[in-house]
Amino acid sequence: MENKVTKIGVLTSGGDAPGMNAAVRAIVRTGIYNGMEVFGIMRGYAGMIDNDIVPMHSRSVANIIQRGGTILKTARCKEFFEYEGRKKAYANLKKLGINGLVIVGGDGSFRGAHKFSNEFDIPCIGIPGTIDKDIAGTDFTIGFDTAVNTAVEAIDKIRDTADAHDRLFIIEVMGRDAGYIALHSGIATGAEHILIPERKTDIEELIDSLMEKERRKKLVNMVVVAEGDNFGGADEVAKVVKERIPSADTRVCVLGHIQRGGSPTCMDRLIASRMGYASVECLMEGRHNVMVGILNNKMHYTPLERAVKAKQKISDEWIKIVRILAS
Ligand code: F6P
Repeated sequence: MENKVTKIGVLTSGGDAPGMNAAVRAIVRTGIYNGMEVFGIMRGYAGMIDNDIVPMHSRSVANIIQRGGTILKTARCKEFFEYEGRKKAYANLKKLGINGLVIVGGDGSFRGAHKFSNEFDIPCIGIPGTIDKDIAGTDFTIGFDTAVNTAVEAIDKIRDTADAHDRLFIIEVMGRDAGYIALHSGIATGAEHILIPERKTDIEELIDSLMEKERRKKLVNMVVVAEGDNFGGADEVAKVVKERIPSADTRVCVLGHIQRGGSPTCMDRLIASRMGYASVECLMEGRHNVMVGILNNKMHYTPLERAVKAKQKISDEWIKIVRILAS
């Protein structure tokens, strides 16, 4: 571990997130600036196992800062969660002399990195890249700002048509285990109700509230549901609403993967650039096996072990804001 890092491997892993390209660009260029060789590992850990690894140059990352997706491709790789898979991956890195890794991904990707760095002598640095924003130790994750703005734009459009027809819309946004996209996009679009996995959904309370709104002729109502809500997604909620309030003209819209694509916002490009730069600095300073984050506008380093265990909490104040503003 004490050896100087001279060759970096960079990979993007798990669900893609807008801004991953900006992070890759920053890692490649900061590495080259500091006299290192940089390699791109294709399709996340799968490329590490299959030896799908390519040298990167300053020009390899030209014209990508504004592009969604990831030029390195990504995958969710089960084989890396087996020791044999990690051993194969290590042998491939060793052959190329790669002695430092930067992983841009979410908690699943960090779990893999944490295991790998415990078993083999290659330091790993994590960069939080996930639209879900469900990682502790950072105020921002790459892709969240773009995803939430995409959701806001879509929900605003839905409100136009809901208003024209006096309809009740149940809108599902992404977030398997986390309600951040639902919470932020719901507040920003003035949704009447927001259902998130972090709070147990009380369906009776929702029905009562929607009925009360009907009685006072509030005819346009928007319910934003995170896909991982414990009651189920938008379809399950809509089933109950249609049964119990047949007079409401109810429609469902599932936003789906459009939230993962598109050109990253300025915010996502900036945090990706800062984190990418800081990840290489970490490797140079010998600060190993940490996740690079930003807390209170300062770079913050969380041990990978903690980053994979802790989750961001949603404070009760957010929930209070939703209740008060959506009356
Ligand atoms: O990357 C996070 C995420 O978009 C979650 O919000 C969602 O549940 C999941 O990925 C979907 O993954 P996939 O595209 O592999 O179906």
